[in-house]
Amino acid sequence: MEIIRTIDWIKQIARDSRAKERVLGFVPTMGALHEGHFSLVRAAKQDCSPVVVSIFVNPNQFGVGEDLQKYPRRFDQDAEALEKLGVDYLFAPEVSEMYPGGFRTLVSVEGLSDRLEGRSRPGHFRGVTTVVLKLFEIVQPQRAYFGRKDAQQLRIIRQMVADLNLDTQIVSCPIAREADGLAMSSRNAYLQGDDRRAATILYRALSAAKKEIEAGEVESGRLIESMRRVFATERGAVLDYAEIVDAETLEPVIRLRKSCLALVAAFIGKTRLIDNAQIEASGGGITVVL
Ligand code: PAJ
Repeated sequence: MEIIRTIDWIKQIARDSRAKERVLGFVPTMGALHEGHFSLVRAAKQDCSPVVVSIFVNPNQFGVGEDLQKYPRRFDQDAEALEKLGVDYLFAPEVSEMYPGGFRTLVSVEGLSDRLEGRSRPGHFRGVTTVVLKLFEIVQPQRAYFGRKDAQQLRIIRQMVADLNLDTQIVSCPIAREADGLAMSSRNAYLQGDDRRAATILYRALSAAKKEIEAGEVESGRLIESMRRVFATERGAVLDYAEIVDAETLEPVIRLRKSCLALVAAFIGKTRLIDNAQIEASGGGITVVL
């Protein structure tokens, strides 16, 4: 695996790959890699060669007072793991390489970006779409892999790709979870002792909703109420939001319909975590994928 620090160099590799009609697969990350990231890499390895992974803690998607400074950074460990997975290129630019002085352009997907996570983290998705578009321009991937763990991010990136006619196919991968249901996240590294146990509350709340849906409940209000009740049992958690929205528009729905998302965000101490479940109605049945 080659570690690449400059945009010029990775662009050259991307050009060569394209000239040889190879299918370049790309997995953008912020590092502190875990099984969730590795599952994306494995999916990319199945479909593509070469596979490029980026590690870049993107300052533009962190708000004032958020955890940019203390975000876990474990470059050597990450590089070793990616090498073992057979990744061809690891693109890991410095902040000054991605954002040289005078940088002024921002990419924003209107509407979808200001609800849910966007309401709690103003400017977050503008930072995400700006860096992802830059990375796509630099790496020129035929396919790019994203986790459904960040369901709103995935929806927004799909919209950007469609709106800007980008030539990258977006592939989504299931949520990787710990044995007790906690969705894997680089931020789980912050959770110590009681907080680690309390963190399963997101999964427990979504599981309660899943159970009710499977028992026939279709009213969002009731489902949200039962998720709130589950949260209320966990003193170590402060709920930010529990919502059920249309998977396309991300607008709240009153009753479940064809394709919805149940999304939760909560603080466990100072650590903010998110999770979601996909709700798919077809042929009279409803399936909930956690
Ligand atoms: P990061 O949080 O490092 O996540 C990188 C990718 O891994 C994202 O597509 C995310 O959805 C996926 N991922 C994280 N946890 C996962 C899990 N438990 N199961 C499955 N996939 C998971 O998301 C970002 O970085 C950044 O916003 C980025 C897109 C790199 C732009 O800076």
